[in-house]
Amino acid sequence: MPERIIFDTDPGVDDAMALYFALRSPELEIVGLTTVFGNGPVDLTTLNALRLLEIAGRPDIPVARGAAGPLSGVFHHGAGVVHGVDGQGDVFLPDPQTRPLPVSAADFIVERVLAEPGALTLLAVGPLTNLALALEREPRIAGLVRRVVLMGGNAFVPGNITPAAEANIYNDVEAADRVFAADWPVTMIGLDVTQRTVMSATDLGRYAAADNALAAHLARITPFYLNFTRGNDGIDGIFVHDSTAVAYLVCPEAFTIQRHRVRVETQGFASGKTWPARSGVYGGDAWDGRPEVEIAVAVDGARTVALELARVCGDRE
Ligand code: BDR
Ligand code: CA
Repeated sequence: MPERIIFDTDPGVDDAMALYFALRSPELEIVGLTTVFGNGPVDLTTLNALRLLEIAGRPDIPVARGAAGPLSGVFHHGAGVVHGVDGQGDVFLPDPQTRPLPVSAADFIVERVLAEPGALTLLAVGPLTNLALALEREPRIAGLVRRVVLMGGNAFVPGNITPAAEANIYNDVEAADRVFAADWPVTMIGLDVTQRTVMSATDLGRYAAADNALAAHLARITPFYLNFTRGNDGIDGIFVHDSTAVAYLVCPEAFTIQRHRVRVETQGFASGKTWPARSGVYGGDAWDGRPEVEIAVAVDGARTVALELARVCGDRE
């Protein structure tokens, strides 16, 4: 039986990669997409979610539009410099034929989790606002999801949007802190592993060589992202952020996990820093009462990249 997934996302080039990796993985079944602001405004990320499903030939998968901004404060800017002003590498896709559901992302999450207790996994690869709103609306969902796997945070490495913080967590610090505080099983796939997972320019060339619509779209949109990482990070490739969370679901044996309680810094210059409470460190009263979170601290990045390319490009692993 495939693991049934609600995919919470802000597409985004690497969100598209993650979605297509998941759609091409028989271990997973996506029951719905929920959208959130992040790489762009939520109206744009919702359109992109619909467009990506159409391209993939899966317009049957429902999309619920989610939060337009963080729980507190305002959303100032997207990530046009990373993902393009259209969120898809500036290829400017036509409008989709399909529409989002008439329910909010948080309501969709609550309804579906209550309808299938113990069955659904929340895979979150954007700011965690929708998950926090769903928890607020119906706290019982914490005990009713199968698990939460999220791309976000930085446990033992620096941030990527500020020296302290990773972008998804930074974009809604309050929501992230609530997600790490809730009593549900959480696995954090953060920069500790996603920046160890590099898809080279040569690897990316395989998308263009593959003969399917999903790979063809990724071949169109990834050059913009590659151009950014070449200039910004000095690598001839891209960091594989969101897809690494999919890789964890499909191939957990490629990862090393540690268990720590986690808090999120919600104020000041280090806002958005995810702070794990390592054992052997005293004076951690402020972490008391927090559940342990699974944190990915190491990965066989070559293995997960090979798996992703094999799945999306349709050839053998
Ligand atoms: C995360 O930020 C977004 O720009 C990416 O889509 C990814 O989810 C990486 O920090
Ligand atoms: Ca994302």
